[in-house]
Amino acid sequence: MGSRHEAKSVSASQVVMTELVLPSHTNSLGSIFGGVIMSWIDIAAAIAAQRHSNKEVVTASLDDLSFIAPVYKGWVVNLKSRVNFVSRTSMEVGVRVDAENPRTGEVFHTASAYLTFVALDSHGKPTPVPALKLDTEEDHRRSAEAQRRREMRIKRKSKG
Ligand SMILES: CC(C)(COP(=O)(O)OP(=O)(O)OC[C@H]1O[C@@H](n2cnc3c(N)ncnc32)[C@H](O)[C@@H]1OP(=O)(O)O)[C@@H](O)C(=O)NCCC(=O)NCCS
Repeated sequence: MGSRHEAKSVSASQVVMTELVLPSHTNSLGSIFGGVIMSWIDIAAAIAAQRHSNKEVVTASLDDLSFIAPVYKGWVVNLKSRVNFVSRTSMEVGVRVDAENPRTGEVFHTASAYLTFVALDSHGKPTPVPALKLDTEEDHRRSAEAQRRREMRIKRKSKG
């Protein structure tokens, strides 16, 4: 077991989550409600942030989200999440959502999202998280991109 502030690799907190689209998830056209996918995105991302920090986490923000292709009843939805960037108490997590038609095996990219989570201490106050160890070129690229998004978020927030 690592110490509380020891840097942790991206791979240590990655999440793969699979869901089946049930009738209760769909509208009258038989396609899934966007809110169901949003909730799965939030859960997959929160688990990665929790694994990285070993703390309770809250969703601070979700960057813009587009649904690229419809997802139908009976399909399988695969969500992959990973921590892209860590600052003092917050973590940016990226989620990729792919839907799979079980009858044909075809896979469709459905959505991608970036969420920021903040780790909280036992008093509900933001608390420091371990640094992120970047092992691969992809880790470095995603971290640099996430840092740019963080700067944009901070700019937007300061404009109110
Ligand atoms: C997220 C929350 C804890 C931040 O509290 P705060 O008083 O603004 O905290 P601070 O100003 O000390 O910022 C703490 C961290 O949060 C980050 N943060 C705050 N608001 C943010 C936002 N809108 N988007 C991204 N990051 C944000 C800050 O950048 C900072 O990160 P850092 O320590 O890594 O630099 C607080 O706004 C909150 O509790 N929000 C409600 C969360 C919630 O309930 N979510 C569930 C859905 S409602």
